[in-house]
Amino acid sequence: MSTVMQEMHTDIGLVNTIVARSSLSFINGEKGILEYVGYGIDDLARQSTFEETTYLLWNRRLPSRVELAEFNTLIRSNYDLSETLWDMIVSLPRDASPMHALRTLTSALALEDPAADDPSIEANTRKSIVMLAKMPALIAGFDRHRKGLDLIRPNVEATIAENFLYMLTGKKPTERMSRAMDICLILHADHGFNASTFASLVTISTLSDIYSAVTTAIGTLKGPLHGGANQGVMYMLQEIESIDAVEEYVLNKFANKERIMGFGHRVYKSNDPRATYLKTFAEGIAQDTGNIDLFNKSQRIEEVMDREVGSKGIYPNVDFYSATTYFSLGIDLDLFTPLFAMSRVSGWTAHCMEYLAENRLIRPRCDYVGPHEQEYVSISQR
Ligand code: CMC
Repeated sequence: MSTVMQEMHTDIGLVNTIVARSSLSFINGEKGILEYVGYGIDDLARQSTFEETTYLLWNRRLPSRVELAEFNTLIRSNYDLSETLWDMIVSLPRDASPMHALRTLTSALALEDPAADDPSIEANTRKSIVMLAKMPALIAGFDRHRKGLDLIRPNVEATIAENFLYMLTGKKPTERMSRAMDICLILHADHGFNASTFASLVTISTLSDIYSAVTTAIGTLKGPLHGGANQGVMYMLQEIESIDAVEEYVLNKFANKERIMGFGHRVYKSNDPRATYLKTFAEGIAQDTGNIDLFNKSQRIEEVMDREVGSKGIYPNVDFYSATTYFSLGIDLDLFTPLFAMSRVSGWTAHCMEYLAENRLIRPRCDYVGPHEQEYVSISQR
């Protein structure tokens, strides 16, 4: 081993490695604290909006009333898609997974941006607004296309949350539904150097463009150990026939060495504050929409998990109760992860812009454990 390699340490999964400084989100995994730029997640979920939270992440301060109004106007003026993009949506296979569709369509946004490769902060802010504002149309548009429904143009009077629900269903959502959606968007907006954010940083650190960085992030978020878990939670809840079947189901999973989706976290070894908040919220919305059985089943899973693995620091994460919330809002299971992306785009872009200010190529090493000095045998001799 070379001297340089001897000085390095191996950290599989980057469990104990800090790769950069950031002033966007703070997580205390032992105490269950999450702050965006110093503001507690609970305060933001109760009092802020997704747009204001995004402004906070991008500017590292809360906006004034005028600044927020201007920001909202700018976002809304970017809601609609070009004819090329609407055509592209209806050209996609109807049976494609919405996450594959979202990744492809987000990538396509770069095709019609002549300044796609401009790395300036002004250009990146503009491109971030484009992605933030258009993702609801991309997700809702694809969902309607696959169901054979007419595509709906955005409502530029509406918030991101309201506009998404409107474009998805064709109906004006109730205030409670819009608020539930808005809160989910706030809670998922940022979370330190999670896998998808880190993936976006790897891409941006090569001085590639921010559309590519977000496309990378969407591909990473899709995995069942990351954003794909919310969908997995819902499959599990549907698979468990009744509240009485919960215990056997969970114990069987453990016996087969399988994981329970929506539990455990790399950073939180106590309660995930997002899950704590969503739990109360999910109960209310499940009650209102006739889905309280689902909530009760979730609560029973939590009890069994607490008894079995609570001592190992495995608790519900954000995906556990967001599943019940989205289901109660009438959203299809395979749209849960695209919704996560629709929110996290604010965090991904905030981190990319922050990282670029002090950019350093992210290029770790691997610990080579393969053979050396092998004799090359020509193909005719093998
Ligand atoms: N169900 C059962 N056992 C679990 C679970 C779970 N959900 N999560 C962790 N464990 C066990 C794991 O088997 C291991 O046990 P042992 O030490 O006996 O081998 C121990 O806990 C440590 O697990 P790990 O995989 O080494 O921990 P990690 O920090 O690498 O994993 C995680 C974090 C999120 C990948 C993992 O907890 C997991 O797979 N959870 C289920 C998927 C999930 O809900 N993901 C969403 C994460 S939060 C939202 C997001 O970021 O997208």
